[in-house]
Amino acid sequence: MIIRLGVPTDAAALAELAARTFRDTFAADSRPEDIAQHMAQAYGSLQQGRELADANIVTLLAQRGEELAGYAQLRFGPAPTCVEGNAPIELWRFYVAQRWHGQGIAQALMCRVDEDADRVGTRTLWLGVWERNERAKAFYRKGGFVDVGAHVFMVGTDAQTDRIMARPVAAVVSDTPK
Ligand SMILES: CC(C)(COP(=O)(O)OP(=O)(O)OC[C@H]1O[C@@H](n2cnc3c(N)ncnc32)[C@H](O)[C@@H]1OP(=O)(O)O)[C@@H](O)C(=O)NCCC(=O)NCCS
Repeated sequence: MIIRLGVPTDAAALAELAARTFRDTFAADSRPEDIAQHMAQAYGSLQQGRELADANIVTLLAQRGEELAGYAQLRFGPAPTCVEGNAPIELWRFYVAQRWHGQGIAQALMCRVDEDADRVGTRTLWLGVWERNERAKAFYRKGGFVDVGAHVFMVGTDAQTDRIMARPVAAVVSDTPK
């Protein structure tokens, strides 16, 4: 498996993966109209193409052969006031395809998230995770994230509560001797 930066020509494949993983994660617990509305706003080749070209978004793709197995996106922007660490950046999206859950891809992707967060000069990672997404919360907790607050996340017309979690960017081990 390789993890690499996304480029604009990845738009269609990323849009497919992003829509599929969102649906797999949330469709069972939300109204179909809300899922459809959110997906129409958030996903599609045009939208992911814009994100891949956006200088404020870092997109990382986990790839096995021709298959995209997961992706993560870091996004510059204001952090909620409950995030107290220095130089914060949002871990905006973090998704692994269902058939690869529990196989270490998420850990590898998170290591690369830390490397890139460090590379772009940030010191604190924060994210919002749906309060009922127990698997994701467990994954983040074992990776050192702690609950620091909450905010509302709209899925269509459904105002969901996201827990906000944060931790320092992990120290990157450099290959270069000091
Ligand atoms: C969140 C995600 C990236 C984690 O990757 P993963 O490969 O599933 O992670 P892991 O299996 O290493 O860790 C998940 C942990 O949750 C535990 N877990 C699984 N189901 C659970 C549940 N229903 N309740 C609580 N914990 C659960 C697992 O046992 C594991 O903990 P362990 O290693 O101590 O046993 C992946 O599940 C995913 O992409 N989910 C769908 C998208 C998503 O929710 N993204 C986050 C949006 S904020």
